[in-house]
Amino acid sequence: MVFPEYRPRRMRKNEAFRGLIRETRLDAAQLIHPLFVMPGKNKREAIGSMPGVFRVSVDQLAQEARECLDLGVNSVILFGLPEKKDAMGSGAHAKNGIIQQAIRELKNKAPELMVVTDVCLCEYTDHGHCGCLINNAVDNDATLEILAKTALSHAEAGADMVAPSDMMDGRVAEIRAALDEHGHETVPIMSYAVKYASAFYGPFRDAADCAPQFGDRRGYQMDPANSREALREATLDVDEGADILMVKPAVAYLDIISKLRDEFDLPIAAYHVSGEYAMIKAAAEKGWIDGDKVMAETLLSIKRAGADIIITYFAKDMARLLRG
Ligand code: PBG
Repeated sequence: MVFPEYRPRRMRKNEAFRGLIRETRLDAAQLIHPLFVMPGKNKREAIGSMPGVFRVSVDQLAQEARECLDLGVNSVILFGLPEKKDAMGSGAHAKNGIIQQAIRELKNKAPELMVVTDVCLCEYTDHGHCGCLINNAVDNDATLEILAKTALSHAEAGADMVAPSDMMDGRVAEIRAALDEHGHETVPIMSYAVKYASAFYGPFRDAADCAPQFGDRRGYQMDPANSREALREATLDVDEGADILMVKPAVAYLDIISKLRDEFDLPIAAYHVSGEYAMIKAAAEKGWIDGDKVMAETLLSIKRAGADIIITYFAKDMARLLRG
């Protein structure tokens, strides 16, 4: 049947029709809100390149948790700014490290909030790379042990889920083994399985002070030109025991999200990263776009591509908009 017998506009007549046939919906319960935690007391620092995002001290976290929960955003992911950095990133697994303190505070003050932790060394190394260096190169196998220790220290502090973002080979298996060996077999791993070497991370690196001091991350993060390789990376992480597969960034990689959705039955997460957020914020501040509408359309497109879960700096704004 074609025009004039068939008229697609019949089903777009009003909001009742449109709502009836809507294929994709956003849900605050599937958004994860990133939090940057810094040392000190009573601190709340604005991040210049990410309007509306703050670095906060541990004592502010209960308030952050309350705001999220009130909006129906039940999950946060933590990033830490340690007091000091060193060559091996030892602050990442310190018993009283910034993230370990943050987890304990959140689980104490808001036990119903799901606390996910980013497992990586770049915020803790003085050179800013995601692993430890041997002969000026990031050494994969030496890094694995430190990552496993880090994930374990997060679980011991009470983290509900760990999310390795370092892109070392074999890290999911290593982390799974360490967790299981110490009685944390119920803590899932959300793997940054497909993480591209992206310029969209720029504002985050300011926020978390983790830009590499020499070179770049192309020796471990993926080449933006590759999509078959994404399937291989994801397959390895599934085999190693990942519970959720993540694609990062999101909007420039919707094709990858869609591919993973077709190929795997695990939940898929997408990280709408700092640069993607900053571009929308900047254009909205200039009055060039309607910020709320572009936000909603963007997050919807990530969901439509096949992501179940979206990590986004817009989590609270989106949840507010969904509430109406
Ligand atoms: C740590 C990490 C990064 C991001 C999340 N975890 C930075 C990077 O890989 O350089 C980026 C998140 C964002 O841009 O919002 N490795």
